[in-house]
Amino acid sequence: MNALFSAGSDPGGHGLTAALYELGLLVSDLGRSVDFYERAFGYRFAPDGEAMLGVGPRRRLRLVPSPDGRLGPSHVGFAVTDESQLDTLGERLAVAGVAHRAIDRVGYRPGALAFADPDGNAMIFGLADAADIAPGPDALPGHLQHAVFSSTDIEAMLSFYRDVVGFGLSDAVVNDEGLLTTFFAHCSQEHHSLAVFRAGQNRFDHHCYEAGDWGLIRDWGDRFASLHIPIKWGPGRHGPGNNLFLFIHDPDDYWLEISAELELLEPGRTVGVWPHAERTLNSWGIAYLRK
Ligand SMILES: [Fe+2]
Repeated sequence: MNALFSAGSDPGGHGLTAALYELGLLVSDLGRSVDFYERAFGYRFAPDGEAMLGVGPRRRLRLVPSPDGRLGPSHVGFAVTDESQLDTLGERLAVAGVAHRAIDRVGYRPGALAFADPDGNAMIFGLADAADIAPGPDALPGHLQHAVFSSTDIEAMLSFYRDVVGFGLSDAVVNDEGLLTTFFAHCSQEHHSLAVFRAGQNRFDHHCYEAGDWGLIRDWGDRFASLHIPIKWGPGRHGPGNNLFLFIHDPDDYWLEISAELELLEPGRTVGVWPHAERTLNSWGIAYLRK
């Protein structure tokens, strides 16, 4: 049995209740990325310092010019449901000896917590302070829903996000040697808001918008088709989370996922363990197993 989890066990965590709220991405050509996300996702952008902050219905994206050509997230932001969540998180970070600081930032109420995870990914957890905008013809429904990293030390990432930050473990993928290859972690009823793959390098894997209804996968596909943005993977259905999906690339080749029918966790849901196989990642066919 893996020391970190077992099939059928309690999800663990510390009852964190939050949702993915805002993503910051380093981009190589700010104008090109703004144009892409405006047209494809209906984001409305305004300057925020040297960055551009995009707002859409239940989604926020901060595009940051890369100073040195390096790409990846500039931050991943979660909105917690109430002040006590922040207090508890601050205490847990302090007990674990994780450096963190309170920040004052557009879109968050003062006192949001900024810290880095074991791989150095910049995270912000705070109370949201922004009005949402309604979906419209230029902004199909799909809330910013999960972010995924690849890591050379997935065990440390699971320990950190579950045992310190407070996510619950929903599902784990394990290879023939018994090594954890993927974990899916939740901070709400949604099956996962964060996932991590085992890989040969630490990097950002993708972010996802949950459209909810399968018919909206069609509408998103048609939107991308009208803009000559090709589907790179899918449609398919993931095993863990049972969600339908399709993937595209943005101008910097960041993977973007549109999802529908993501599992909503029922009370008493225990940890599922899946084999490391194509069928786990896509029960409909071809899958990309991370290396
Ligand atoms: Fe995903």
